Amino acid sequence: MEVYTEKQQIVAAIDIFKAKKLTLGLVPTMGALHEGHLALVKKALKNNDYVVVSIFVNPTQFDNKEDLVKYPRTLESDVELLKTIDENTILVYAPTVEDMYGEKTTSETFDFDGLEFEMEGKFRTGHFDGVGTIVKRFFNIIKPDNAYFGEKDFQQLQIIKKLVEKHNMPVNIVPCSIYRENSGLAMSSRNTRLKPEYMEAAPFIYKTLTAAKTQFGTKSANTVSQWVEKQFASHNLLKLEYFIIADATTLKTIKRKSNHKQYRAFIAVYADDIRLIDNIALN
Ligand code: PAJ
Repeated sequence: MEVYTEKQQIVAAIDIFKAKKLTLGLVPTMGALHEGHLALVKKALKNNDYVVVSIFVNPTQFDNKEDLVKYPRTLESDVELLKTIDENTILVYAPTVEDMYGEKTTSETFDFDGLEFEMEGKFRTGHFDGVGTIVKRFFNIIKPDNAYFGEKDFQQLQIIKKLVEKHNMPVNIVPCSIYRENSGLAMSSRNTRLKPEYMEAAPFIYKTLTAAKTQFGTKSANTVSQWVEKQFASHNLLKLEYFIIADATTLKTIKRKSNHKQYRAFIAVYADDIRLIDNIALN
């Protein structure tokens, strides 16, 4: 398996694929790969001749310095894991910060038609400018036909769709469903940092989401939200940052239910100093 760190080298490899009219999938990641990431890679392999997995801990999307410093970096074992899926048609691109940003590690500013001001955008200032900046750069370097994003980061997925639409980028965005532990906990690179008692407590997040979904069948969004807040208020380990029921397209908090719209519940919770997010389709 080829692991590229130099932009020119991966561009040269991709030029050859393009000349042969082979299709290319891209799975952008920040590494510390788990089964959730691998599900994206497997889906990409089914629909493309070659798949690039980018592994890059993007500094501009972290609003919290400590989170950036502590973010797990495990390139060697990530490559080993990818080799277990396919040695021949996966390429890894693991650039340096200098390679992606040059001398100034700063983001572009984007207008995502308001999607960037909801939920994660409220609690993580500048986060989506950082995500938009790096994903746009990866699209420009790799020129994938298809790019794969998980619904685990549903707001990010909607924002990437908007990025592509607004900048007329010739890439098809493929959503992938959330991959969970047997306990229901959404897989995340951050889970490896959970102390045992928090790891044991964390499945409460998905349990509460599924209960909220059931309640949403008969109750108002407001009543369900208050119930969720109450569950966390009496929890001694997990701290709720937000629980929101929103329109799945605009991501705006809903005021009144309508029969024709798709709704989703979104949650962010602190387990110790580790921030976990999850979401669920409600109808
Ligand atoms: P990262 O958190 O590494 O996630 C990479 C991709 O894997 C994202 O599309 C994310 O939604 C998906 N993913 C993570 N956990 C998942 C799970 N349990 N089930 C399904 N998909 C899952 O998201 C990022 O990196 C970065 O913001 C990035 C897009 C790479 C830009 O830096």
